Amino acid sequence: MSTAPPPLTAELEAGLRRLKLAEMRRIAPELLVTAKTQRWSPEELLRVLIEAEIAAREASNARARMKVAGFPVTKTLEGFDLVGSSIKPATFDYLCSLEWIRAKENLCLVGPAGTGKSHLLVALGIEAVAKGYRVRYFSATELVETLYRGYADNSVGRLIEQVARADLILIDEVGFAPLDHVGSQLLFRLVAQAYERKSLGIASHWPFEQWGHFLPEQTVAVSLLDRILHHANVVVTSGESYRMKEARTRGKGVTQKLER
Ligand SMILES: Nc1ncnc2c1ncn2[C@@H]1O[C@H](COP(=O)(O)OP(=O)(O)OP(=O)(O)O)[C@@H](O)[C@H]1O
Ligand SMILES: [Mg+2]
Repeated sequence: MSTAPPPLTAELEAGLRRLKLAEMRRIAPELLVTAKTQRWSPEELLRVLIEAEIAAREASNARARMKVAGFPVTKTLEGFDLVGSSIKPATFDYLCSLEWIRAKENLCLVGPAGTGKSHLLVALGIEAVAKGYRVRYFSATELVETLYRGYADNSVGRLIEQVARADLILIDEVGFAPLDHVGSQLLFRLVAQAYERKSLGIASHWPFEQWGHFLPEQTVAVSLLDRILHHANVVVTSGESYRMKEARTRGKGVTQKLER
């Protein structure tokens, strides 16, 4: 039967609380018993306490970064079926290495519906959060709406600076809805702010030469693409929609059940 370890002295407890060493305070009573019974050296005890505090803080920071990132769903790189995708393994490995974020390169995912653009964007974002990067995820509509609100109350400059503080800014579903003159200017301002300083991850079903479909002015489209594509990894996704494939498989299951 295990007995509860003796509590820390009031002085130690208060000191650790004051220094906000919450994890140390939590594990110290138990650890002191282990250290005594197993005759740990003082250095060993100090090392274990410090490592535990660092690990707990890193986990807490990662949770906070995850919340700020605003991912709409959880997707993983392990859950991405590379065989069923048109992406080359070498490209996928490079993207997974996150080296492109360190190098402040962009990522552009272009391809039809259901070919894994959002999955990859979110999974890379989550991996980046885990590796210590600050990430923000937006659908293009959501981003432009947010910027529009800032435009209305004169805070758009601050808002753009705030978003561009992230190491990786993900803009999904670019071109789903057409942008008006102000909307495209605002998007341009954000892209210009991030240019060569931060990484952008963009997903769209529109090939670049067709960005005129949702951007009202040719000059804005050209300037925007010029900055996005200057240091970019362009990845084209193709093939049948994963959603359709899954729906068909589910459909088959239903038919088989009905036939039985
Ligand atoms: N290669 C893949 N491996 C595993 N799951 C995939 C893959 N491609 C797509 N999916 C899954 O299929 C669904 C649709 O994919 P996703 O949302 O990434 O498509 P999309 O390219 O963003 O499409 P859209 O242009 O309509 O936004 C998601 O649930 C996603 O997780
Ligand atoms: Mg998508």
